[in-house]
This record gives sequence, C-alpha cells and structure tokens, in this order.
Amino acid sequence: MSSVVIVGAQWGDEGKGKVVDCLSESADMVVRFNGGANAGHTIIVDDEEYVLHLIPSGAIREKADCVIGNGCVIDADQLLSEYDELMRRGIDLSKRLFISGFAHLVLPHHKAADGAWEGNSKVALGTTKRGIGPAYCDKYARFGVRAEDLLEEKDLRNKLEAAYAYRSRWSGSGEYPGLEEVFEHLRKIAKRLSPFIVDTSLLINKRIDEGKRVLFEGAQGTLLDVDFGTYPYVTSSNPVAPYAAIGAGVGIRQLDMTLGVVKAYLTRVGTGPFPTELDSEVGEKLRQQGGEVGRTTGRDRRTGWLDLIPLRLSARVNGLDGLVVSKLDVLDSYEEIPVCVAYKLRGKTITEIPLPVVLMDEVEPVYEILPGWQSDTSEVTKWSDLPAKAQEYLKFIAEGCGIPVSGISVGQRRDQIIWLEEVFQ
Ligand code: IMP
Repeated sequence: MSSVVIVGAQWGDEGKGKVVDCLSESADMVVRFNGGANAGHTIIVDDEEYVLHLIPSGAIREKADCVIGNGCVIDADQLLSEYDELMRRGIDLSKRLFISGFAHLVLPHHKAADGAWEGNSKVALGTTKRGIGPAYCDKYARFGVRAEDLLEEKDLRNKLEAAYAYRSRWSGSGEYPGLEEVFEHLRKIAKRLSPFIVDTSLLINKRIDEGKRVLFEGAQGTLLDVDFGTYPYVTSSNPVAPYAAIGAGVGIRQLDMTLGVVKAYLTRVGTGPFPTELDSEVGEKLRQQGGEVGRTTGRDRRTGWLDLIPLRLSARVNGLDGLVVSKLDVLDSYEEIPVCVAYKLRGKTITEIPLPVVLMDEVEPVYEILPGWQSDTSEVTKWSDLPAKAQEYLKFIAEGCGIPVSGISVGQRRDQIIWLEEVFQ
C-alpha cells in the first residue's frame, strides 16, 4: 500500500496521533484533511510529550513532509505558535511544511461566535470554542477567507470586508476585534506563512505518482462527523475516510487502505448521547487509568464500555480495512469487561443506530460480558504473547464489526505497538 488513511472510529481521542507517528517512520508525507485546532494529537518520544493541534503528527519524524490540506480550517496564530515550539525543540519544519491555499482561515469573529452561540442556543454542544463551526459556516456560505488570500494584500482586504459585512448580520456573535486590527495582524502573519502556502493537491498527487508513501491523518472521529455522527452533537467537518479525497484533493482511487483507530473502551468529550457511559466508580477508574483528559480543552472525558453499534457504522461509512485497537493495557486489571452488542429501545432489540438519532438518548445497552485477562500487556510485542483472554477480546471486537485487527497499542511509547500486518508494503 502506498497511501493509507487513518481515521478515528469513535468519538475522537482514540489515539490517532500515536498511530500516525508510528506509521510516519515509513511515510514520505503526512496530510491532515479535516478539522482545525480542535484536535489534540499526543505523541510521546523518549519521555518527551508533543501535543499537536494543527500540524500533522508526522512532524516529529525528521523525514516526512507535513501537509495541511484544503479540508482543514486554520487558526494562523495557533499554527505559528505550534511551528515555533517545534522549531525551538529542534524539529525543523522549514522545508517540509505545506499549507493548502484553499484551506480556510479561522478568524477572531469565528472564535467569538463559537462561544456566543453556545451561550445563546438551546442545544449546547460543548464545543472546543476554537471557532471551528463558524469558520466552516463561512466557508459554505462563501464568505470565508482562505490561506491563498494571504498572498495578495488587496484580495485579503476585500475578502475580509465581505466576511465582516456578512457576519454583522448575525446577532449574538460575541465580541471580536474590528476589521482594521485583524487586517493589520493578518498582513504581518502573511509574511511568515506565505512561503508555506502552495497548491497541496498538486503536491500530494505528484508524490503519489512518484510512488511515495502518503499517510492521510483524520482528526476527531466518525461519530463526530457532521453527516454520520450523533447530530447535532458533532463537529462541523467530515472526519471520515472518504473525505480524505476531498480534504486533500486526490481521487478516491488514490486511497489504498483505511485503518480505523478504536479505543479498547469508549470516551467522549462534550455533550451528546453515549449509551454505554459509566457514571460510576468504574468510569472514574477508566478515566484515571486511561489519563482521559482532553488535550485541547483540559476537560475530563466521559468514559464507558466499548460499543459495537456505532463501531459497525464506522466500519461501513469509512470502508475500514483494519482496526488499530488502542489503550488495551488500560483494561489489564479488570476481572470482567462488558461490550455492548445491541440496544433495547421501546421493547425491541436493535443492532444499528436508531432513526431518528435522538433516540440514542433512550436506548439501553445490551452487554456481553467477556472475561478480563488480569495481566500486564504493556510490554507485549507480538500477538502470540498476548494473554489468550486479551486475544479473545480483540477477536470479539473484530467479529462484532466485521473488520480484522491490524494493530494493537499497549502504551504511550512508540515501541508499545503490535502490528499484525505490514501497513506500508
Ligand atoms: P467543535 O469541533 O469544537 O465544534 O466541537 C464539537 C464537538 O466535537 C464537541 O463535543 C467537542 O468536544 C468535540 N470535539 C471536537 N474536536 C474533538 C477532538 O479532537 N477530540 C474529541 N472530541 C472533539
């Protein structure tokens, strides 16, 4: 396979950052294709922690080119501060960062509106307040400012005027700096960002044609997808694999393989249905042992047991070829591990997400209880050395969603991953 898509198969925070970092060792290019600084991808190298919000997780490897695709929305200040921090820590991105000219900018009025809308709306989503929803709104309303506009000062001003005129029609959009101030700031930023802004679709296609290995890195997770997730408690982009083609500007035939990262249990940040949520001591234990605190907002993540129903949806809409099960080691101490295999809804048993999706709030999980393995898996390096009960657990997940397990992560370190197949051949 020369091009591989990595997506989150649940509600985000599945551990995609580590998986992308591991695969980046053999990749020539890593491409982010959706979302913005709402993501928080953590990579641990030799006890050093890197948290990336916008820059692709391939950055920590010296060789891979890093591309921010057209499907992303970019907070330029956040991007520059991440870039400066990596440079300060000895990671030179000056020749290997590329930003799509078609990616939209997140502007101060987007961030202001993100907070204000939450306050004024009947549906509080618990967003990351990074301006993601409002920036995508402006993109689709055709009043957005794109990275390419930073290359032409006159154009930037015109686009900004249009964006401000459009936004002034929205009431309750919060406080934000005026046009002149933002224009001056963007002019300064443009000087630094311009060298990185290119036609990334052209670049990625060229690399694929040359037979290079390209990794497409999704942010958030399938159940936060604006179409397929638990709407309206979703993000405003499409974190699913088919969007890699659109958000990077490649043909669908260019995507050879799709891996879905699945946490061995389940977490969610923000509001919205979560049938297997554990509002109990066990949930707290999972949160503590799994270090389940959001890397972007610092909020505690909600925790629960693995749920095969949304995972089946994930397998379907992503066209998954394999699962990478993460954080298996977090379950090492449990005597029994329940997995949700169906829902009870108004006297009936269902095995798919109900329609309307709002009924997810009413469903009762039906569990199959699997025996725990109660031994340390964190230093296991091959499948045959995993405890038999851990193997059974993994096989149960694979059979439950009809997708084979391709990899298993058993800790934060780079070497704590077991591959069952070679991803880049
Ligand atoms: P937004 O993407 O900031 O608009 O937030 C919408 C929903 O997606 C909220 O429930 C957030 O908590 C959630 N969300 C956004 N990005 C991430 C992520 O990277 N990991 C997990 N949840 C996320």
